[in-house]
Amino acid sequence: MEREGKVYVFDHPLIQHKVSLMRMKETSVKEFRELAQEVAMLMGFEATRNLPLKDVEIETPITKTTTKMLEGEDIAIVPILRAGLGFVDGMLALVPNAKVGHIGLYRDPETHEPHEYYCKLPKDVEKRQIFVVDPMLATGGSAVAAIDFIKQRGGKNITFMCLIAAPEGIRALHEAHPEIDIYIAAKDDHLDENAYIVPGLGDAGDRLYGTK
Ligand code: URA
Repeated sequence: MEREGKVYVFDHPLIQHKVSLMRMKETSVKEFRELAQEVAMLMGFEATRNLPLKDVEIETPITKTTTKMLEGEDIAIVPILRAGLGFVDGMLALVPNAKVGHIGLYRDPETHEPHEYYCKLPKDVEKRQIFVVDPMLATGGSAVAAIDFIKQRGGKNITFMCLIAAPEGIRALHEAHPEIDIYIAAKDDHLDENAYIVPGLGDAGDRLYGTK
């Protein structure tokens, strides 16, 4: 059986402080976007903890030595459009050579099933460590579908990162893709009747892009 994925909820004070600022309704679009990048960077630092290293021979001004560097630059960041884009720059600040794929989904108004309207992934996606990013894990429908699509295209090594998750979304994602590690900045109470996370921060896409 494949390794069971873990759910990590961050308790770092900087992350908690920044997420609280993002929740506040008076936080401006500019501040919200900057905070999203900062939180992505802080979370990404931990989510990349298991990237493989290799030994390299180098020479310092003092002596030759063996030291560690990343084994490959085989990372892909895959935002779920559009709110996931808010996490990309923060992750790229950590792993500037990562490739970036994009997945766009819409929900069928009658069946409520997610449908893919856009998907462009790196060609060698099967070799890459993939970080799927979406700020809000609400019902889990989009995350489950996005990861289904990535797996159909050969993606194997997948991690999911979000800002705020509802218990319903965590459960759905873990049930559908039990091997995946899930990184969450804050776990909230529940979903309301419109599938918004409570207390949440509202619509993450609107808050990032000033559309409302
Ligand atoms: N998507 C959002 O942007 N916010 C929520 O609360 C739920 C889903």
